[in-house]
Amino acid sequence: MTHTADFAHAWDLAGEAAEWLQQAIGSRPRLGITLGTGGGQTTGLFPVEVRIPYREIPHFLTPGVESHAGEITTGVLGGIPVICLSGRFHYYEGWSMAAIVHPVRTMARLGCEGMIFTNAAGGLHPDYNPGDLVLLHDHINLMPDNPLRGVHDERMGPQFPDMMAAYDPAWRQAAHRAASHLGMSLREGVYAGLAGPNLETPAEYLFLHRIGADLVGMSTVPEVIAARHCGMRVAGLSVVSNVCYPPDRISHTTHASVIDTVAHSRQRLYELLTAWVREISGQPF
Ligand code: HPA
Repeated sequence: MTHTADFAHAWDLAGEAAEWLQQAIGSRPRLGITLGTGGGQTTGLFPVEVRIPYREIPHFLTPGVESHAGEITTGVLGGIPVICLSGRFHYYEGWSMAAIVHPVRTMARLGCEGMIFTNAAGGLHPDYNPGDLVLLHDHINLMPDNPLRGVHDERMGPQFPDMMAAYDPAWRQAAHRAASHLGMSLREGVYAGLAGPNLETPAEYLFLHRIGADLVGMSTVPEVIAARHCGMRVAGLSVVSNVCYPPDRISHTTHASVIDTVAHSRQRLYELLTAWVREISGQPF
């Protein structure tokens, strides 16, 4: 898909990708997982059955960020067939919103009933520390574009989708049960999605804290909107990579330091994901 991908055909393009993937993977995944920055390549998460680079899948792009693998893997996690998207497309790379959410729509057309999105994020809550895992309970969209902008295609979903409970309450409860089984602390927070690619100024971090954001990042929000739009259940999980509030705790942050911090939390992230999916799989989707 080019970055000028026409929204009017987005559902058909996702259908073509899903049909191709269905042939290639042979199984029917129930859940999609997007692993964000520093999320690794899934080998530590579940025994990989099929691995396919994005470049082979119809209309998928190749991620421009070096920390993003750019491949899908399938396997069984927590007792259910899952499909994992390692690497995502960011608005700051110049892609259109339609191109950014194409993998999510492909998961919907493949028959996935829900998506879990992980990311690395700056922490705007005064109690957060680097490496903390934070479950999203809401978001604030501060990106200058929206994946639903354009010609309305009613096959995909409603023109004005409701976002009152975008982050599935039952799946959030399941995450807390999983964390408590593991003796792990799991916070909840509101994620603000910005275009990037620059990190924020101290004044912007303060502003984001004051408007109610606990986390800030450059992804996830468009994907969540697209997934909810086409009727999937959604959950989000951030790894705090740097502290952004209060102003005297802001640390110097580079892409390398973000990856490094997330890599240190990866084992806990994987343990939580595994226990969480096991909790989810026990419930009707
Ligand atoms: N700002 C925006 N995005 C981020 C940050 C941040 O501080 N940390 C990780 N992703």
